Amino acid sequence: MGCLVAVWVMPVALRQAPYRVPHKTGSLVLRSAGGKLWCGHVAPWWSCPISYPNNAMNKSFQQVVSVTAFAVALVLPGVAGAKVSEQTLKNLNTAFQGESNAANRYGKFAVKAAAEGNAQVAKLFRAAAASEAIHRDTHKKAIAELGGTAKEFELDAVTPGTTAENLKASIKGETYERDTMYPDFLAVAKADDAAAAIRTIEFALAAEKEHAKLYQEALDNLGKNAKADYFVCGVCGMTVTELPAKKCRSCRQSVDKYNKIA
Ligand SMILES: [Fe+2]
Ligand SMILES: [Fe+2]
Repeated sequence: MGCLVAVWVMPVALRQAPYRVPHKTGSLVLRSAGGKLWCGHVAPWWSCPISYPNNAMNKSFQQVVSVTAFAVALVLPGVAGAKVSEQTLKNLNTAFQGESNAANRYGKFAVKAAAEGNAQVAKLFRAAAASEAIHRDTHKKAIAELGGTAKEFELDAVTPGTTAENLKASIKGETYERDTMYPDFLAVAKADDAAAAIRTIEFALAAEKEHAKLYQEALDNLGKNAKADYFVCGVCGMTVTELPAKKCRSCRQSVDKYNKIA
């Protein structure tokens, strides 16, 4: 990218350079101004390779142009942002697959909890499913922003167990994401300085911490779960039982972005 910009920038710089004096026209007389013939080259006269091919200043000028173009080509990629690593794109695709499946799985666990007569736990599973769906989408968006391609996700077959078993399995999954998967992915994204990846991974990591906690509380109180509402931030998937006063503590967007889970 930097090379392309450099190739574009230098001719523009030359075109902007003023005619200093009329000089030998050679074979490139493109215009006349003020009754004087001007070389078609838009550059200081001494830089004209047609009229002054052996001029010492011309040679120096061309060397300066070459060195400057080379330096710009080297520097611009750093200014524009380093290319993200394949590992970050691979990690985001793994997370995209994982969140897609989690959203699907929790939806089915919610149906099972409702069938068992546990409306409160069913609501919690629906809240977590909504949250994971947001992470699925933010991961996909980040992949695109970083120039990658989100692979088509494949949903695993889900055979729900009892609600107690489903809660235990969910705690296991959330704990792995909280303690291992997302911290590892975040470290790679930070090493890449890939802002889009860092943002979506931090969103997911913050929410998984809450999910693990809420699932554990639900399991500890199974059968006597207190009534509670769940709210999910539509930007980052943060899942809470009480709305923040003004802003989401994860993404810092307005509390208006939260949706109450039915
Ligand atoms: Fe989660
Ligand atoms: Fe948020």
